[in-house]
Amino acid sequence: MDYFQMSEQELRVHEASLAEQYEAYKQQKLKLDMSRGKPCPEQLGLSKEMLDTVTSGSQLQARDGSDYLNYGGIDGIPEAKELFADILGVSPKEVIIGGNASLNMMHDTISRAMLHGLRGSKEPWAKLPKVKFICPSPGYDRHFAICELFNIEMIVVGLTPDGPDMDAVEKLVLEDESIKGIWCMPKYSNPEGITYSDATVERLARMTTKATDFRLFWDDAYNVHHLTATPDPLKNILSACKEAGNPDRVFIFSSTSKITFPGAGVAVMAASEDNLNAIRKQLSVQTIGPDKINQLRHVRFLKNPEQVQLHMEKHAAIIKPKFDLVLDKFEHEFGGSRIASWSKPNGGYFISLNTLDGCARKVVQMASEAGVTLTGAGATFPYGQDPRDCNIRIAPTYPSLAELEAAIDVLCVCVKLTSIRTILSKSA
Ligand SMILES: Cc1ncc(COP(=O)(O)O)c(C=O)c1O
Repeated sequence: MDYFQMSEQELRVHEASLAEQYEAYKQQKLKLDMSRGKPCPEQLGLSKEMLDTVTSGSQLQARDGSDYLNYGGIDGIPEAKELFADILGVSPKEVIIGGNASLNMMHDTISRAMLHGLRGSKEPWAKLPKVKFICPSPGYDRHFAICELFNIEMIVVGLTPDGPDMDAVEKLVLEDESIKGIWCMPKYSNPEGITYSDATVERLARMTTKATDFRLFWDDAYNVHHLTATPDPLKNILSACKEAGNPDRVFIFSSTSKITFPGAGVAVMAASEDNLNAIRKQLSVQTIGPDKINQLRHVRFLKNPEQVQLHMEKHAAIIKPKFDLVLDKFEHEFGGSRIASWSKPNGGYFISLNTLDGCARKVVQMASEAGVTLTGAGATFPYGQDPRDCNIRIAPTYPSLAELEAAIDVLCVCVKLTSIRTILSKSA
């Protein structure tokens, strides 16, 4: 049903029936939270036996004889560096294993740049009158929060199905020395589910930047998180940077938050040896060594990239039906209506829904009043400002299928009702 072909009379009849449905949902006093992309309890259950891989009777000596229970191993245990190097397609020397959150490593990397500068910096970033980051949007609100915390000005560029609008990015970095970084989610991006094309990866590696210490903040959070048997391929960014003669251009981040546990996973960063040596020096002032036992648990449980892949297939078996449910409902409710469009990702944790311009805030508010909490409208843009007020991030993984169905039913009614009211107000 194309809403733009309906007469005013037809729209008003439809509005009245949707308003009744909405009131009925309100009476149900639902309490459904779809605001964050969290694994569901069943997914967490997939990795619980990892907790038994290290016990008081376990072998806890490293290959070099050092004791994992003691101090040391500043950048991670060798087995963990090898495992994540294999997964990320880099060498173990190009890896630092962190604590349980890659977000922490991103924050600390920027914090160090602010205080001390990076390789190639003329001064610590905090001494400069202005530091700017390019933020392809819709994007991840926690990236934007880090920028806000450090007073880094965010410049929005659009996302295409191939990644950031590279014409805009190349022009910006060529002309403006205060642009020091760009947030990139190269695979199954949050929330659009986009994977960067080879050409995009190459252009990011090769482009000329006015800042001598410009970096790609390459958040590869969903590297192995496929939903289908035909995963999106992604070109290796560190190799591309080396080939382009810019080996220090990229910081890669990832974690096992959505492989094992968000509350007890392992984070990792990868970059050129020179970049990492500078970080290792600073890390060794910060700590005498990380939690090596959790790293060991991960190595014993995940073993190798093939085993990780098999494990991720178990995740996909749990969450794919949830993605399918949302996509089927959207098709059924909005197909041909011209009031909404949405992403159909091959992996990751999100579906991105676009309403008519000016509707997203109202939809999220209405859903909330009917007991369905969604990610705040605007959260996918810097400063919480979606210029078209149309993007809503859907996080289908955490609720049960029954809860998800109820929540999406409410959402669809809210979208339709808000769209009709918007169309009617414009034609009035
Ligand atoms: C793109 C992206 N990066 C990072 C994270 C958080 O990762 P971590 O748990 O390793 O801090 C998330 C979580 O939703 C995410 O979507």
